[in-house]
Amino acid sequence: MTSKSEPERRYFATAARGTEGVLRDELRELAIPAVKATRGGVHFGGDFTSAMRACLHSRIAVRVLEKLAQFPAVDAKQLYQGARLVKWERFLGPSTTLAVRANLRDSTLTHSTFVSLKVKDAIVDSLRDRLRVRPNVDRYEPDVLITVHLIKNQAELFVDLSGNPLHRRGYRIAAGSAPLKETLAAAILRFSGWRADKSLIDPMCGSGTFVIEAAMQAQNVAPGLNRKRFGFERWICHDQERKRQIAELRKQAREIQKTDGRTSFILGRDRDAATLAIARANAKRAGVNARWEVGEVRDLKPNCEPGWLVTNPPYGVRLSSDASLPSQMARRFRELSGFRVCALLSDRELPKAMRLRPTIEHELWNGKIECRLFCWDIP
Ligand SMILES: C[S@@+](CC[C@H](N)C(=O)[O-])C[C@H]1O[C@@H](n2cnc3c(N)ncnc32)[C@H](O)[C@@H]1O
Repeated sequence: MTSKSEPERRYFATAARGTEGVLRDELRELAIPAVKATRGGVHFGGDFTSAMRACLHSRIAVRVLEKLAQFPAVDAKQLYQGARLVKWERFLGPSTTLAVRANLRDSTLTHSTFVSLKVKDAIVDSLRDRLRVRPNVDRYEPDVLITVHLIKNQAELFVDLSGNPLHRRGYRIAAGSAPLKETLAAAILRFSGWRADKSLIDPMCGSGTFVIEAAMQAQNVAPGLNRKRFGFERWICHDQERKRQIAELRKQAREIQKTDGRTSFILGRDRDAATLAIARANAKRAGVNARWEVGEVRDLKPNCEPGWLVTNPPYGVRLSSDASLPSQMARRFRELSGFRVCALLSDRELPKAMRLRPTIEHELWNGKIECRLFCWDIP
């Protein structure tokens, strides 16, 4: 039940741990109504167009889900009965495929596979009774992806509008050795305070995620515009009117792209020429311009107005790192007078070597790796 003062929130945009606050701010800027950040993401309201806009324009959301039902589920029977009441024929028909995922916390039912199976059974039985059809399960490329959240014995059922997660923008066919997810890179750019009219350098850019995400912002390229389609475009209820609406949103997004090629100074550097070639190819696929240079971080001499340096140096856990790298970076970074230097780190070697109090320090998770974003304003 929603009270008068609490607007109804039917949608949930999921976010990487630590990025919920910046996702809330981004959705507010996109004029998405009734946003509210919580653990794991941001609830929002509005109509289906708001949700389509979030899919197309959010750089930070990982998935966008629509809430279909909420009910108590202390045991398998309650879960099955609650799931059977949903009108699944809105989404699924004779030739659509289905997958169900479950996240459980503090509940009597403790096996996510069992919970997914129970909900899948309820969906299949309900469609068999109502339409005399039996949808097939496809765990890898389903047309319709259902998510179950079972928290403190309260079940919430969602259908996933995004399909493939939104970090798969479609521009990264190849990656370097430890690429950042595009959605996390976009969240870090926002934490860093970088603005699209300022210079940006990533001196250890790998497959170029920070550089490409920044260039997409500078050129006003909507992050979802390169995708072939979203999950909702495979639903039975994706009728002519919805097709017209998403086509119109895509058209509007194309119209606001900057095509004159003139943007702020955005530079990706890496010491590895092969990785840099991947970054260039990714940028080309994303349809953005940036500068690229092969070089060691110790030789970085920015040929631009002071701006932002945002980087993700190799982590010990994922790439073998060079022991002198933190001191090399610190020596170079401390000389970048007027720059804000930001680094996503999994240890404190660089912060120790910087010998400067950070302006920003924020805990973030890169997948399962606990990291911290540090930013220093260089005097
Ligand atoms: C963790 S990866 C960066 C990943 C990147 N953020 C992405 O999304 O693909 C670190 C990068 O630092 C580069 N690197 C390591 N040592 C370097 C150095 N001394 N100078 C310049 N680049 C270096 C590596 O070649 C690697 O591409």
